Amino acid sequence: MNDLQTQIEEALRGAVVRVLGGDYADADPLIVPAKDPKFGDYQANLAMGLAKKVGRKPRDLAEAIVAELSIGEMFASAEVAGPGFINLKLTGAALDGAIAAMAGDGRLGVSAADPPRRVVIDYSSPNVAKEMHVGHLRSTIIGDAIARVLTHLGQDVVRQNHLGDWGTQFGMLIEYLAESGADRSERGIADLNAFYQQSKKKFDEDADFADRARKRVVALQGGDDQTVALWRSLYDESLKHFAEAYERLGVSLTEEDVRGESAYNDMLPGVVEALAETGQLRESQGAAVVYPEGFTDREGEPMPMIVRKSDGGYLYATTDLAAARFRIEELHADRVVYVTDSRQAQHFAMVFQTLRQTGWAPDRVRLDYVAFGTILGPDRKPFKTRSGGTVKLADVLDEAVQRAAAVIAEKNPDMPEDERQQIAEVVGIGAVKYGDLSNDRIKDYVFDWDRMLALEGNTSPYLQNAYVRVRAIFRKASEQNVAAEAIHAQQPQERVLARHLLQWPRVILSVADSLEPHRLCNYLYELAQYYHRFYEHCPVLKAEDHATRASRLALCELVGRTLKQGLDLLGIGVVERM
Ligand code: ARG
Repeated sequence: MNDLQTQIEEALRGAVVRVLGGDYADADPLIVPAKDPKFGDYQANLAMGLAKKVGRKPRDLAEAIVAELSIGEMFASAEVAGPGFINLKLTGAALDGAIAAMAGDGRLGVSAADPPRRVVIDYSSPNVAKEMHVGHLRSTIIGDAIARVLTHLGQDVVRQNHLGDWGTQFGMLIEYLAESGADRSERGIADLNAFYQQSKKKFDEDADFADRARKRVVALQGGDDQTVALWRSLYDESLKHFAEAYERLGVSLTEEDVRGESAYNDMLPGVVEALAETGQLRESQGAAVVYPEGFTDREGEPMPMIVRKSDGGYLYATTDLAAARFRIEELHADRVVYVTDSRQAQHFAMVFQTLRQTGWAPDRVRLDYVAFGTILGPDRKPFKTRSGGTVKLADVLDEAVQRAAAVIAEKNPDMPEDERQQIAEVVGIGAVKYGDLSNDRIKDYVFDWDRMLALEGNTSPYLQNAYVRVRAIFRKASEQNVAAEAIHAQQPQERVLARHLLQWPRVILSVADSLEPHRLCNYLYELAQYYHRFYEHCPVLKAEDHATRASRLALCELVGRTLKQGLDLLGIGVVERM
């Protein structure tokens, strides 16, 4: 990257070398953007750490570094503050030049990865014959945001929807479907949850049925025609239901991205054989196991990961080993990302370790586990309906849109009904997604309608409203024939805004590395706040002279583009008015 901040870092490193010598050529200048313009535009925090190393007083060292910085071209001033901070103020030319480069770039200064790396992202991955619930919401929207960010960076992203579409529970479901009759089946599986519960009930209460269900598992594995056809109908029905949810959520997953557990079924014996070939296969109480290094149980004994049960059945872990091998060998992944709730942390840690010690995942392949916490209800217990059932995704989205419509009606009572409905869809769904993405994903969060839909605070309606303001100015500007021109950030509020805009490429890179979408949310929230402050202090179309009007309008335009791009990377739309 060669953005303004990189140039500042280089200038500082040069000064450090002139003061301390070439040994310090790669010192990190520890630059942070200044929150308050009275401290300049950026602050360099390197002097304290360096001073300790070389045994000098931090302030003296900071003074010496400052004395070596050339003032004029890039820096308007450099001042030592506090225990040894260096406050840097940029020249107008440096700031305006950088912002002009960003405004003139269709990618807003984000360069495309060269060469692109292949990133496989395993996300959403719901279970067949079960309705998607809010728990799947998190994997779906976090994974999708990550996929969008990496795609935007030019990475070669392969989405993998690792459906739970195989396993012993299908014996029970298929048998129930077979016995309840063809006519029943259509209506029966249309309500997937009820269907699942009914067959589970029968399985638990009726021993003969349970027996037949077990035989179905064998028939399914043996490829029996009738059984496979019944499995197919469950699968197709579920896929239809998932596709509806993705469509409604604006999630980029398609049927082509589906590669469920069943796809690896034929590879499972091979996994066990290959483990034996690498010398990693062990036996434990009749089961075939592997011992991932570094895992011990409470007694301090090595902890096994079972790959084949004593009855010959394979497990979730076996499938994940097969899937990982497929992704690395066949899909040529350079990086594999898994998005599931944090209860699967141990599972993935063991799978990753096994992949390393077998050499199936060589060091060049990066493995990332993207964990997330639980959605809680107002009582801080896992989110449930009032009657204690699981909350259905479709119901949540319907309610979100309804509530958004009410918010819009209050804000803008004269808006025609059908327009309000359209906008409510974008605002409501966006609010649910943003309400999720804006939290540090590892933490649990409370699902709170009022907070999510508030027009103030770190919410998507707040950001969408900031975008609406930008659009409103543009409508007025075109009536008055004012066009955006070169940006000259003069007022402190303009400078802060411009400097914040310049952080954009870094934020995107940091999301791609940490796989934490909330960093992007925080950035956009700050952007909208700086924009509002600018808007309050710096008249745009009422500014005194033409150049100022045109410059401020250009700044508005860049804010609008950045907000829109940012929300798009989160999978959230914008509206022209609300
Ligand atoms: N189907 C699983 C579940 O709902 C998630 C699968 C995650 N991906 C994986 N490769 N194990 O819990």
